[in-house]
Amino acid sequence: MIDGLGAVQDVLVVGGSSEIAHAIVAELAVKRRLRRVVLAGRSMDSTVSSMRSLMSDVDVQAMSLDLTKTGSIAATLNAGWGNGFDVVLLTAGVLPDQSRAERDPAVAVDAALVNYVGQLEAGTAAMSKFREQGRGVLVVISSVAVERPRVDNFVYGSGKVGLDYWAIGLADSVDGKAIRILVVRPGMVRTRMSRHLPEAPMTCDPSDVAKAVAKNLVRGPSTVWVPSRLRWVMATLRHLPRPIFRRLSPTGAEPSGNAADPR
Ligand SMILES: NC(=O)c1ccc[n+]([C@@H]2O[C@H](COP(=O)([O-])OP(=O)(O)OC[C@H]3O[C@@H](n4cnc5c(N)ncnc54)[C@H](OP(=O)(O)O)[C@@H]3O)[C@@H](O)[C@H]2O)c1
Repeated sequence: MIDGLGAVQDVLVVGGSSEIAHAIVAELAVKRRLRRVVLAGRSMDSTVSSMRSLMSDVDVQAMSLDLTKTGSIAATLNAGWGNGFDVVLLTAGVLPDQSRAERDPAVAVDAALVNYVGQLEAGTAAMSKFREQGRGVLVVISSVAVERPRVDNFVYGSGKVGLDYWAIGLADSVDGKAIRILVVRPGMVRTRMSRHLPEAPMTCDPSDVAKAVAKNLVRGPSTVWVPSRLRWVMATLRHLPRPIFRRLSPTGAEPSGNAADPR
Protein backbone atom coordinates (compact mmCIF):
# COMPACT_ATOMS: atom_id res chain seq x y z
CA MET A 1 0.00 0.00 0.00
CA ILE A 2 1.27 3.52 -0.80
CA ASP A 3 1.77 5.07 2.63
CA GLY A 4 0.89 8.57 3.81
CA LEU A 5 4.23 9.89 2.57
CA GLY A 6 3.69 8.51 -0.93
CA ALA A 7 6.13 5.61 -0.48
CA VAL A 8 5.38 2.56 -2.60
CA GLN A 9 5.60 -0.96 -1.19
CA ASP A 10 4.56 -3.47 -3.88
CA VAL A 11 5.32 -3.04 -7.59
CA LEU A 12 4.59 -5.18 -10.65
CA VAL A 13 6.67 -4.45 -13.75
CA VAL A 14 5.36 -5.60 -17.12
CA GLY A 15 8.52 -5.46 -19.20
CA GLY A 16 10.62 -6.60 -16.27
CA SER A 17 14.03 -6.22 -17.95
CA SER A 18 13.40 -2.69 -19.26
CA GLU A 19 16.20 -0.27 -18.39
CA ILE A 20 13.65 2.49 -17.84
CA ALA A 21 11.68 0.21 -15.49
CA HIS A 22 14.80 -0.53 -13.46
CA ALA A 23 15.50 3.17 -13.07
CA ILE A 24 11.91 3.70 -11.89
CA VAL A 25 12.16 0.87 -9.36
CA ALA A 26 15.46 2.29 -8.08
CA GLU A 27 13.84 5.72 -7.70
CA LEU A 28 10.84 4.23 -5.86
CA ALA A 29 13.24 2.39 -3.55
CA VAL A 30 14.83 5.64 -2.39
CA LYS A 31 12.12 6.07 0.28
CA ARG A 32 13.14 2.66 1.71
CA ARG A 33 9.59 1.33 1.98
CA LEU A 34 9.68 -0.90 -1.10
CA ARG A 35 8.79 -4.45 -0.06
CA ARG A 36 8.13 -6.52 -3.17
CA VAL A 37 8.96 -6.14 -6.86
CA VAL A 38 7.65 -8.65 -9.39
CA LEU A 39 9.40 -8.52 -12.76
CA ALA A 40 7.19 -9.91 -15.54
CA GLY A 41 8.81 -10.83 -18.82
CA ARG A 42 10.21 -13.51 -21.05
CA SER A 43 13.45 -14.50 -19.36
CA MET A 44 13.77 -12.96 -15.95
CA ASP A 45 16.32 -15.09 -14.07
CA SER A 46 19.42 -12.94 -14.55
CA THR A 47 17.39 -9.72 -14.25
CA VAL A 48 15.93 -10.87 -10.95
CA SER A 49 19.38 -11.87 -9.65
CA SER A 50 20.92 -8.53 -10.51
CA MET A 51 18.06 -6.57 -8.94
CA ARG A 52 18.27 -8.75 -5.81
CA SER A 53 21.96 -7.98 -5.51
CA LEU A 54 21.20 -4.25 -5.69
CA MET A 55 18.26 -4.35 -3.26
CA SER A 56 18.90 -6.96 -0.62
CA ASP A 57 16.02 -5.75 1.55
CA VAL A 58 13.40 -6.08 -1.24
CA ASP A 59 11.62 -9.32 -2.18
CA VAL A 60 12.29 -9.51 -5.96
CA GLN A 61 10.38 -12.19 -7.89
CA ALA A 62 9.95 -13.22 -11.49
CA MET A 63 6.72 -13.73 -13.44
CA SER A 64 6.99 -15.47 -16.79
CA LEU A 65 5.09 -13.41 -19.35
CA ASP A 66 5.32 -13.12 -23.13
CA LEU A 67 3.24 -10.21 -24.41
CA THR A 68 2.81 -11.81 -27.82
CA LYS A 69 0.88 -14.68 -26.17
CA THR A 70 -2.32 -12.71 -25.95
CA GLY A 71 -5.29 -14.44 -24.40
CA SER A 72 -3.18 -15.85 -21.56
CA ILE A 73 -1.72 -12.61 -20.17
CA ALA A 74 -4.62 -11.66 -17.88
CA ALA A 75 -4.70 -15.15 -16.34
CA THR A 76 -0.95 -14.98 -15.67
CA LEU A 77 -1.30 -11.60 -13.96
CA ASN A 78 -4.30 -12.71 -11.93
CA ALA A 79 -2.47 -15.85 -10.79
CA GLY A 80 0.54 -13.79 -9.65
CA TRP A 81 -1.41 -10.95 -8.05
CA GLY A 82 -1.11 -12.37 -4.51
CA ASN A 83 -1.83 -9.72 -1.88
CA GLY A 84 -1.90 -7.00 -4.51
CA PHE A 85 0.25 -4.23 -5.91
CA ASP A 86 0.28 -0.47 -5.30
CA VAL A 87 1.83 0.27 -8.66
CA VAL A 88 1.87 -1.54 -12.01
CA LEU A 89 4.39 -0.32 -14.58
CA LEU A 90 3.71 -1.00 -18.27
CA THR A 91 7.25 -0.61 -19.59
CA ALA A 92 7.48 -3.23 -22.34
CA GLY A 93 8.20 -2.17 -25.88
CA VAL A 94 9.89 -3.16 -29.07
CA LEU A 95 11.32 -0.80 -31.67
CA PRO A 96 11.40 -2.85 -34.87
CA ASP A 97 13.51 -2.03 -37.88
CA GLN A 98 11.09 0.22 -39.75
CA SER A 99 11.92 -1.08 -43.19
CA ARG A 100 11.46 -4.72 -42.13
CA ALA A 101 8.28 -3.87 -40.28
CA GLU A 102 6.83 -2.29 -43.42
CA ARG A 103 7.50 -5.42 -45.47
CA ASP A 104 7.21 -8.37 -43.09
CA PRO A 105 3.75 -8.81 -41.56
CA ALA A 106 5.18 -10.97 -38.75
CA VAL A 107 7.50 -8.15 -37.61
CA ALA A 108 4.68 -5.60 -37.74
CA VAL A 109 2.30 -7.84 -35.81
CA ASP A 110 4.93 -8.67 -33.17
CA ALA A 111 5.45 -4.94 -32.57
CA ALA A 112 1.71 -4.34 -32.34
CA LEU A 113 1.28 -7.20 -29.86
CA VAL A 114 4.08 -6.02 -27.57
CA ASN A 115 3.55 -2.26 -27.87
CA TYR A 116 -0.23 -2.34 -27.70
CA VAL A 117 -2.36 -5.50 -27.53
CA GLY A 118 -0.37 -7.45 -24.94
CA GLN A 119 -0.06 -4.44 -22.65
CA LEU A 120 -3.74 -3.62 -23.18
CA GLU A 121 -4.55 -7.09 -21.84
CA ALA A 122 -2.10 -6.72 -18.95
CA GLY A 123 -3.32 -3.21 -18.11
CA THR A 124 -6.98 -4.20 -18.28
CA ALA A 125 -6.34 -7.12 -15.93
CA ALA A 126 -4.44 -4.83 -13.54
CA MET A 127 -7.28 -2.30 -13.59
CA SER A 128 -9.81 -5.01 -12.61
CA LYS A 129 -7.60 -5.89 -9.67
CA PHE A 130 -7.20 -2.22 -8.71
CA ARG A 131 -11.00 -1.86 -8.70
CA GLU A 132 -11.31 -4.95 -6.46
CA GLN A 133 -8.69 -3.66 -4.00
CA GLY A 134 -9.97 -0.08 -4.27
CA ARG A 135 -6.60 1.50 -5.05
CA GLY A 136 -3.58 1.41 -7.36
CA VAL A 137 -1.50 3.40 -9.81
CA LEU A 138 -0.98 2.27 -13.39
CA VAL A 139 2.07 3.84 -15.04
CA VAL A 140 2.05 3.60 -18.82
CA ILE A 141 5.29 4.35 -20.66
CA SER A 142 4.12 5.81 -23.93
CA SER A 143 6.31 7.96 -26.21
CA VAL A 144 6.29 11.33 -27.92
CA ALA A 145 6.08 9.21 -31.09
CA VAL A 146 2.32 9.18 -30.49
CA GLU A 147 2.03 12.85 -31.33
CA ARG A 148 2.63 12.60 -35.04
CA PRO A 149 3.33 9.72 -37.47
CA ARG A 150 6.90 9.64 -38.75
CA VAL A 151 8.13 7.87 -41.82
CA ASP A 152 11.02 6.26 -39.95
CA ASN A 153 9.07 4.78 -37.04
CA PHE A 154 5.34 4.71 -37.74
CA VAL A 155 4.95 0.97 -37.16
CA TYR A 156 6.34 1.37 -33.63
CA GLY A 157 4.36 4.58 -33.19
CA SER A 158 1.07 3.01 -34.25
CA GLY A 159 1.19 0.56 -31.34
CA LYS A 160 2.18 3.33 -28.96
CA VAL A 161 -0.76 5.41 -30.16
CA GLY A 162 -3.18 2.61 -29.29
CA LEU A 163 -1.73 2.21 -25.81
CA ASP A 164 -1.55 5.95 -25.17
CA TYR A 165 -5.13 6.56 -26.40
CA TRP A 166 -6.42 3.78 -24.16
CA ALA A 167 -4.47 5.05 -21.15
CA ILE A 168 -5.59 8.67 -21.56
CA GLY A 169 -9.22 7.55 -21.78
CA LEU A 170 -8.73 5.34 -18.76
CA ALA A 171 -7.17 8.21 -16.79
CA ASP A 172 -10.26 10.29 -17.47
CA SER A 173 -12.56 7.43 -16.45
CA VAL A 174 -11.18 7.01 -12.92
CA ASP A 175 -11.47 9.40 -10.04
CA GLY A 176 -7.72 9.97 -9.97
CA LYS A 177 -7.47 9.59 -6.21
CA ALA A 178 -7.71 5.97 -5.15
CA ILE A 179 -6.98 4.69 -8.67
CA ARG A 180 -4.70 6.72 -10.88
CA ILE A 181 -3.23 6.38 -14.37
CA LEU A 182 0.03 8.13 -15.20
CA VAL A 183 0.92 8.37 -18.88
CA VAL A 184 4.58 9.15 -19.56
CA ARG A 185 5.73 10.36 -22.97
CA PRO A 186 9.51 10.33 -23.15
CA GLY A 187 11.50 11.49 -26.14
CA MET A 188 14.64 9.55 -26.90
CA VAL A 189 16.08 7.79 -23.84
CA ARG A 190 19.58 6.28 -23.59
CA THR A 191 18.78 2.58 -23.30
CA ARG A 192 19.54 -0.54 -25.33
CA MET A 193 16.38 0.19 -27.35
CA SER A 194 17.84 3.36 -28.86
CA ARG A 195 21.58 2.73 -28.51
CA HIS A 196 22.08 2.01 -32.23
CA LEU A 197 20.50 5.32 -33.27
CA PRO A 198 22.08 8.76 -33.56
CA GLU A 199 21.38 10.73 -30.43
CA ALA A 200 18.73 13.41 -30.83
CA PRO A 201 18.58 16.76 -29.06
CA MET A 202 16.84 16.49 -25.69
CA THR A 203 17.78 12.84 -25.32
CA CYS A 204 17.54 11.92 -21.66
CA ASP A 205 18.53 9.12 -19.30
CA PRO A 206 16.34 6.46 -17.72
CA SER A 207 16.85 8.26 -14.39
CA ASP A 208 15.12 11.35 -15.84
CA VAL A 209 12.07 9.26 -16.71
CA ALA A 210 12.20 7.68 -13.26
CA LYS A 211 12.26 11.06 -11.51
CA ALA A 212 9.26 12.23 -13.53
CA VAL A 213 7.36 9.08 -12.59
CA ALA A 214 8.19 9.38 -8.89
CA LYS A 215 7.27 13.07 -8.85
CA ASN A 216 3.86 12.54 -10.47
CA LEU A 217 2.97 9.13 -9.09
CA VAL A 218 0.33 10.12 -6.57
CA ARG A 219 -0.55 13.67 -7.60
CA GLY A 220 0.00 16.13 -10.42
CA PRO A 221 -0.82 15.89 -14.11
CA SER A 222 -1.81 12.47 -15.44
CA THR A 223 0.25 12.92 -18.62
CA VAL A 224 3.88 13.98 -18.47
CA TRP A 225 6.60 14.52 -21.09
CA VAL A 226 10.27 13.77 -20.42
CA PRO A 227 12.00 16.15 -20.60
CA SER A 228 9.02 18.36 -19.83
CA ARG A 229 9.87 20.96 -22.51
CA LEU A 230 9.21 18.30 -25.17
CA ARG A 231 5.54 18.95 -24.59
CA TRP A 232 5.87 22.38 -26.18
CA VAL A 233 8.20 21.20 -28.92
CA MET A 234 5.74 18.50 -29.91
CA ALA A 235 2.80 20.91 -29.67
CA THR A 236 4.54 23.02 -32.31
CA LEU A 237 5.62 20.11 -34.52
CA ARG A 238 2.14 18.65 -34.42
CA HIS A 239 0.72 21.69 -36.18
CA LEU A 240 3.32 22.05 -38.90
CA PRO A 241 1.92 21.49 -42.39
CA ARG A 242 2.74 17.96 -43.55
CA PRO A 243 5.07 18.93 -46.40
CA ILE A 244 7.21 20.95 -43.97
CA PHE A 245 7.08 18.23 -41.31
CA ARG A 246 8.21 15.66 -43.90
CA ARG A 247 11.12 17.83 -45.01
CA LEU A 248 12.41 18.09 -41.44
CA SER A 249 12.80 14.34 -41.24
CA PRO A 250 16.19 12.63 -41.58
CA THR A 251 14.63 10.52 -44.32
CA GLY A 252 13.18 13.63 -45.91
CA ALA A 253 9.95 12.85 -44.19
CA GLU A 254 10.01 13.73 -40.55
CA PRO A 255 11.81 15.63 -37.74
CA SER A 256 13.82 13.08 -35.87
CA GLY A 257 17.48 13.94 -35.49
CA ASN A 258 16.80 17.65 -35.78
CA ALA A 259 14.11 18.21 -33.23
CA ALA A 260 13.56 15.56 -30.61
CA ASP A 261 13.72 12.03 -31.86
CA PRO A 262 10.39 10.79 -30.60
CA ARG A 263 10.97 7.07 -30.15
N1 LIG B 1 14.53 4.12 -25.15
C1 LIG B 1 13.84 5.07 -25.74
O1 LIG B 1 14.37 5.92 -26.51
C2 LIG B 1 12.36 5.19 -25.48
C3 LIG B 1 11.72 6.40 -25.80
C4 LIG B 1 10.34 6.54 -25.55
C5 LIG B 1 9.65 5.48 -25.01
N2 LIG B 1 10.30 4.31 -24.73
C6 LIG B 1 9.50 3.22 -24.18
O2 LIG B 1 9.96 2.93 -22.86
C7 LIG B 1 9.63 1.58 -22.53
C8 LIG B 1 10.87 0.91 -21.96
O3 LIG B 1 11.86 0.83 -22.98
P1 LIG B 1 13.43 0.80 -22.65
O4 LIG B 1 14.00 1.99 -23.28
O5 LIG B 1 13.62 0.56 -21.19
O6 LIG B 1 13.89 -0.43 -23.51
P2 LIG B 1 14.28 -1.92 -23.14
O7 LIG B 1 15.29 -1.93 -22.05
O8 LIG B 1 14.61 -2.57 -24.44
O9 LIG B 1 12.93 -2.52 -22.55
C9 LIG B 1 11.94 -3.10 -23.36
C10 LIG B 1 11.24 -4.17 -22.53
O10 LIG B 1 10.19 -4.76 -23.33
C11 LIG B 1 10.27 -6.16 -23.13
N3 LIG B 1 9.66 -6.96 -24.19
C12 LIG B 1 9.91 -6.92 -25.52
N4 LIG B 1 9.19 -7.88 -26.14
C13 LIG B 1 8.49 -8.54 -25.17
C14 LIG B 1 7.58 -9.63 -25.17
N5 LIG B 1 7.23 -10.29 -26.30
N6 LIG B 1 7.04 -10.03 -23.99
C15 LIG B 1 7.39 -9.42 -22.82
N7 LIG B 1 8.25 -8.38 -22.76
C16 LIG B 1 8.79 -7.96 -23.92
C17 LIG B 1 11.77 -6.43 -23.09
O11 LIG B 1 12.00 -7.74 -22.63
P3 LIG B 1 13.17 -8.68 -23.26
O12 LIG B 1 14.35 -8.41 -22.40
O13 LIG B 1 12.59 -10.06 -23.09
O14 LIG B 1 13.33 -8.30 -24.70
C18 LIG B 1 12.18 -5.31 -22.13
O15 LIG B 1 11.89 -5.68 -20.81
C19 LIG B 1 9.11 0.96 -23.82
O16 LIG B 1 7.70 0.98 -23.79
C20 LIG B 1 9.62 1.90 -24.89
O17 LIG B 1 8.80 1.85 -26.05
C21 LIG B 1 11.63 4.14 -24.92
